[in-house]
Amino acid sequence: SGPLQSHAAARGKFVGTAVDTNELNDAPYLAAVDSEFGQLTPANAMKWDAIEPSQNSFSFGRADQIMALAQNNGQSVRGHTLVWHSQTPGWVQNLDATAMRAAMRNHISTVMDKYEGDIYAWDVVNEPLNEDGSLRNSFWLQRLGESYIADAFRAARAADPTAKLYINDYNTDGLGAKSDGMYRLVSGLLEDGVPIDGVGFQGHLAVQYGFPNQMQQNLQRFADLGLDVAITELDVRMQLPSDSSKIATQNTYYRNAVNACLGVTRCVGVTFWGYSDKYSWIPSAFPGEGSAHLADENMQRKQAYTTVHDTL
Ligand code: XIL
Repeated sequence: SGPLQSHAAARGKFVGTAVDTNELNDAPYLAAVDSEFGQLTPANAMKWDAIEPSQNSFSFGRADQIMALAQNNGQSVRGHTLVWHSQTPGWVQNLDATAMRAAMRNHISTVMDKYEGDIYAWDVVNEPLNEDGSLRNSFWLQRLGESYIADAFRAARAADPTAKLYINDYNTDGLGAKSDGMYRLVSGLLEDGVPIDGVGFQGHLAVQYGFPNQMQQNLQRFADLGLDVAITELDVRMQLPSDSSKIATQNTYYRNAVNACLGVTRCVGVTFWGYSDKYSWIPSAFPGEGSAHLADENMQRKQAYTTVHDTL
């Protein structure tokens, strides 16, 4: 027994969860977040649309609330996220190339300066890849070309030299075309001397899609480049209704994912994308799916909790 974080710490890792501001008046939820986890990631409060909804008008209120929670609990924070194609206001997307590059640098430096020294790691660039491993044809790529990625990391290092700088994506958890693309991208950045410290593997898994191919080996090849790695957004969804066979598969996936991190020295920790089904992002993002997290809608721990606990 004992909370997840103490087990993870004994293995030299952290274990964290995403949190959002709509959870902040739910005392039982906050009590579990406090006791179980050593690290928090704001699920939405540090995204561009939350922080700079109109140009050069910054609103840090929600982000500050998450930072205060983490500080009260003695938890580290992964900042999420600076440069992404989603949840980024139209005003950014409509800028011409020169103005867009300036806006990107200004956003990175303003947000990182604000929290300098208080953020353990930043997801500087989020989800830059297509499923085939090529670069996603986002407005960033269209307007700025692939140099937007190196540029973002250079601006980030200049803004807060104490934060670990991550690139983060989904469906890169196992060996395959998309993770090969990430490997090529990151190798190129390192060759060019771009300041990057880590690769985040989101770990949005689904019972019906199988477990990622050789996840530990995949994490290890990035670690072998001299980088930290982390599982940054772990959840294991299923098509509803749940049944005993889906639950068994879910438990296997949770065990395998946690073991993949434990098996890699440079894997620093595992962050779950929420603790309970009560505030899950899954039903709205994937209609008909759910039951993805460690506790249920009523905050009762599920088998998934015990599996993770006993694996750590
Ligand atoms: C999700 C949030 O959890 C939702 O509340 C929001 O509506 C959409 O974004 N990959 C990421 C996260 O990097 O930022 C996403 O978070 C989940 C997928």
